[in-house]
Amino acid sequence: MTFPKTYRIKSFGCQMNVYDGERMAELLSARGMAPAQGDEADLVVLNTCHIREKAAEKAYSDVGRLTREDGSRPLVALAGCVAQAEGAEAQRRSKLIDMVVGPQAYHRLPEMIAEAAEGRRTVDTDMPAISKFDALPRRKRSGPSAFLSVQEGCDKFCTYCVVPYTRGAEISRPFVDIVAEAEELVAGGAREITLLGQNVNAWGSDNRDLAGLIRHLAGFSELERIRYTTSHPVNMSEGLIAAHADLPKLMPYLHLPVQSGSDRILRAMNRSHSVDSYLRTIEQVRAARPDIAISGDFIVGFPGETDEDFEATLRIVDAVRYAAAFSFKYSPRPGTPAATMENQIPQAIMDERLQRLQARLAEHSTAFNQACVGRTVPVLIDRVGRRPGQMIGKSPWLQSVFVTTDAKIGEMVEVRLTHALPNSLGGELVAMAEAA
Ligand code: 5AD
Ligand code: SF4
Repeated sequence: MTFPKTYRIKSFGCQMNVYDGERMAELLSARGMAPAQGDEADLVVLNTCHIREKAAEKAYSDVGRLTREDGSRPLVALAGCVAQAEGAEAQRRSKLIDMVVGPQAYHRLPEMIAEAAEGRRTVDTDMPAISKFDALPRRKRSGPSAFLSVQEGCDKFCTYCVVPYTRGAEISRPFVDIVAEAEELVAGGAREITLLGQNVNAWGSDNRDLAGLIRHLAGFSELERIRYTTSHPVNMSEGLIAAHADLPKLMPYLHLPVQSGSDRILRAMNRSHSVDSYLRTIEQVRAARPDIAISGDFIVGFPGETDEDFEATLRIVDAVRYAAAFSFKYSPRPGTPAATMENQIPQAIMDERLQRLQARLAEHSTAFNQACVGRTVPVLIDRVGRRPGQMIGKSPWLQSVFVTTDAKIGEMVEVRLTHALPNSLGGELVAMAEAA
């Protein structure tokens, strides 16, 4: 078989995977391949997520579905965290997987593809100390809102979580490399950059912390918005909180997972924060930036979670009044300490708790959206809407805003918010904030 000409990359899971998917696409394009039109790709990359159950099973069934009616199939690369976790086992389980490539090794894809085209199957799940970033092509074009990975891995070892095993130890990219990539993104059209990391606020390099990095990026005149995600409560430093007070470009939004409102469960989860310390952090953040939107992650049904523990989770939801949230049923992950804990919670109880939690979270997010109605806010246009003349953009609080305007993708417009929908807001154009 000759070297494939077209590719399709399917990314699942978190924003880090979205970022990795974009970098893989740039890498393959730099090697002369083109994104496939429609479904007929010569190469398919499944960029998988391992965070919750059945991830591996889903990946194998996705691989199975790539075989076409005539029996032919594309070259297949299994990438992402399932690839990292399964390694060579993936190719024992499925003959259809030509390449297995982990999140720290995907810069090697072109060589692996060349081997696969010759009929040789390869596995690379190394986590080299030298950075894959050095081997990736420079960023050229960018949408108005870009992701920039600054930190990978996790040393926290929450007892339910596979990330420390699949993504490895915490590693911070060097300051100069991040600044260079940010410059490329801005030159390529980005007006908003979201700094990414599994523990982004643990980032540190060259005597700087995340607050220092954000302060530096805020000096880029063409960059209008800065965000960061995901943060860990124990790394919410005073400096980072102060940055929310001082830097108008740092958007008023903080994703700060808490997982549970019960100290007993937080201890069993090895979260290294308590309900009180978390609430104090939220208080300080709100003192620094009163209009900040807080979002969170929750797990219901962690082993041993009682009705009382769950009620405590509902109480913290009411105390924080989350603007947005992600909530999950606990899912035992092989190799993690929680998977072998006693008192695993029956599915039916988890289902009921999740429903109650989600209903409560929805009340707060609806209230947050409704409280925005009547305000005039800058909206960064990033998509075309379905209706004629309709465009969609993001508010400072990361809400999708629908507005009728001639403004193009990448422009910032002032919008008066007129009505709240369950997951978005509608508004009217006020005036152009500036010419794009
Ligand atoms: N079961 C359920 N949810 C999990 N998360 C991480 N591991 C698990 C698991 N084993 C959730 C946490 C985390 C988010 C990314 O996924 O809430 O913050
Ligand atoms: Fe997983 Fe905990 Fe690390 Fe987050 S902080 S990636 S939940 S181990």
